[in-house]
Amino acid sequence: MKTEILKILRENSGYVSGQELCRRLGVSRTAIWKTMQQIKADGYEVEAVPNKGYRFVREPEDLLNESEIKSRIALEEIGCQVYFKEQVDSTNTWAKKLAEEGAPSGTLVCADAQTRGKGRRGRSWESPRGSSLYMSLILKPDILPLHASALTLVMGLSVVEAIREKTGLDAWIKWPNDVVVSGKKLCGILTEMSAQMDYVEYVIIGVGINVNRKEFPRELSDMATSVELELGHKISRADLAAKVMEHFEKNYQIFLKTGDMSALRSDYDKVLVNRNRQVKVTSPGGHCEGTALGINDKGELLVECSDHEIREVYAGEVSVRGLYGYV
Ligand code: BTN
Repeated sequence: MKTEILKILRENSGYVSGQELCRRLGVSRTAIWKTMQQIKADGYEVEAVPNKGYRFVREPEDLLNESEIKSRIALEEIGCQVYFKEQVDSTNTWAKKLAEEGAPSGTLVCADAQTRGKGRRGRSWESPRGSSLYMSLILKPDILPLHASALTLVMGLSVVEAIREKTGLDAWIKWPNDVVVSGKKLCGILTEMSAQMDYVEYVIIGVGINVNRKEFPRELSDMATSVELELGHKISRADLAAKVMEHFEKNYQIFLKTGDMSALRSDYDKVLVNRNRQVKVTSPGGHCEGTALGINDKGELLVECSDHEIREVYAGEVSVRGLYGYV
């Protein structure tokens, strides 16, 4: 009920009467009053005026919990269920367990801190509490397993769109799925899948965004940044999480029509920081340097090498770095 009350009060800048809340939620005045006490205890300033009703005076700066996220999401599939924990080993591991237990496609899990956050290629993802977003989305799409890796690109695009809309920051994608601002990494995405040869059981897209984080360990500080460091002030993590999901649902629906990146390719290329830049592709088969042209329908990076041959680079096996630094 907390979620619904937060949603209604946020939608109305004026007063909402107790009677109206009772009617819309189908509960008693006492139940509304009790929930309002919980909302105040969370740090909301709520004004209660006799014969007028309730009104938000001020929301807490950056509260993250299940109701905060849920009350901001009104989508068809994405965020149909939202789970939150103060601390978890890894939201991806938690999401996998839920997916196996039958959680529906669109279920979102989020934590305030992770003790064993996972990065790509077996690396760890530093996940201190109270400052960043660690979330994982469960999807059960009817697509072939070989198309599932493109979902990472769909999420990368959605994070860039959400960051730009919410903060005005000049966010870009470093192929395939790092989100960068001012040449530094702001977000990483880790997609994991359980599948048979021709059938996807579930896909977990894990997203880590540095939001209200002021400091990074020395070894990361040249390469990592946060929304707060770039903007100079904090933003609501719940707002940003909801905005990412809103963009993801829109892009996911477009993706599902063809099962590939064809309809999203031009949007993706527009925000691709590597485009028309020199990159170095490192794969187990050797190195190549060339100009990144954009992606193809499969989401592979097209690189024009020095011999003018265009190579299609598949994300799984390579690392792509700019010739002069991380981007
Ligand atoms: C990368 O190496 O760039 C990917 C980092 C992905 C981190 C996120 S945080 C939420 C989710 N849970 C994890 O354990 N990892 C992903």
